[in-house]
Amino acid sequence: MSQTFSRIDQLAQFVGQTVTVRGWVSHLRSSGKVAFIVMRDGSATPLQCVLVKKQMPEEDWARFAALTLESSLAVTGEVRADDRAPGGYELGASALAIIGASPLDYPIQPKEHGIDFLLDNRHLWLRSPRQVAIARVRHEVEQAIHDFFYERGFLHVDTPILTASQGERSGLFSTEYFDEGMAYLAQTGQLYGEAAAAAFGRIYTFGPTFRAEKSKTRRHLTEFWMIEPEMAWYDQAMNQDLQEEFVCYLVERCLTRRAAELKELERDISKLETVKAPFPRIPYTEAVEILQKKGSNITWGDDLGAEDEALLVADYDRPVFVCNYPKEAKAFYMKENPDDPRTVLCADLLAHEGYGEMIGGSQREDDHDKLVARIQHEGLPMEAYGWYLDLRKYGTFVHSGFGLGLERTVAWICGVQHIRECIAFPRMMHRVRP
Ligand code: 4AD
Ligand code: MG
Repeated sequence: MSQTFSRIDQLAQFVGQTVTVRGWVSHLRSSGKVAFIVMRDGSATPLQCVLVKKQMPEEDWARFAALTLESSLAVTGEVRADDRAPGGYELGASALAIIGASPLDYPIQPKEHGIDFLLDNRHLWLRSPRQVAIARVRHEVEQAIHDFFYERGFLHVDTPILTASQGERSGLFSTEYFDEGMAYLAQTGQLYGEAAAAAFGRIYTFGPTFRAEKSKTRRHLTEFWMIEPEMAWYDQAMNQDLQEEFVCYLVERCLTRRAAELKELERDISKLETVKAPFPRIPYTEAVEILQKKGSNITWGDDLGAEDEALLVADYDRPVFVCNYPKEAKAFYMKENPDDPRTVLCADLLAHEGYGEMIGGSQREDDHDKLVARIQHEGLPMEAYGWYLDLRKYGTFVHSGFGLGLERTVAWICGVQHIRECIAFPRMMHRVRP
């Protein structure tokens, strides 16, 4: 009889049959004549294997005693449906093979570990149920992002990681680039996205972005993933409508398809179920007044700090837009607000529950001369932006776009406090390994 292998998530098809499941030991328990192995293979809730001494060859039974946590193994047995089993099925073992033993000093034990220790052991920490749940939510969000834009006729464009110009105001990572001078790791794909929007109409980019920021906050990574849609003929109001629809779509997808993971993470999903359009849209100037009344010492012209953001969203059960910031607080490419030229046509979307800025977006300056003036005012090297100015020279167009930070969005959906857990191998100011 040839051997049938199954992953844990496929066991439903094999009820009553004998299969072999391969994975790693996550829990062991024995009462002398009956033993239990809980094993995980990454596909689903870990599987309980039941070993009965009398029903197994002696040598297979003897192997149980040698098993340790995180050993890799193959268990062969009959698949049984059982409502009491965590995943709905268990395996009545008839054979056990140890594939790779794991010494008793496995670093991650079922006790509290400090965060630095866990991050030093990130390559192993990834195996824990909480980390697996976060990774699955992240994947769901990524897939939902592609689906959302595919369904709406957006073209996916991959923009370069090595660039010659600066996109945002934050710190740059640089490297020598042959005889071409310095190149920078992309802080954003947006400027290329704008060129692509003039070629393809509606596009989105989805890639890693880099910020040499010396900020050690819960929300900052030096390498993070950003989704940046860019739409021809969208003004800022349409841009915000799309953001609302997009964020609701992502939340809805996780609520329907990742309920088990959100449960594992003990996420209070009632806080996600209220995420429905429309989201409040608060003009910046009004936000400053509200914050001052709440005791913040923010003054007109300042960007909102993390504490201000938390104060402002405290009254809401869904994300909140803060619109039309002062020019000086924002990047050079944002379009001047015709109704108040001290400000620009932009919005930050702040997640409720104090998770902070999830999206930054704006209508883009489409007036060639105004854009030149902004580049000069910011002291940016004009020669690096020649191609970007061409987009205003050859058939300028109303266009808008935004950037959604993937890790911040995943942290918010998962209810995870620090975004370092929302990417497999986080890069932060003091961490580039493992
Ligand atoms: O507000 P930001 O800097 O906007 C841009 O980069 C624009 N080019 C976007 C656009 O209009 N196409 O960044 C956008 C989002 C933030 O709202 C945040 O979610 C995330 O990217 N982000 C970070 N996430 C993790 N670590 C960091 N250091 C981040 N900086 C920004
Ligand atoms: Mg921003």
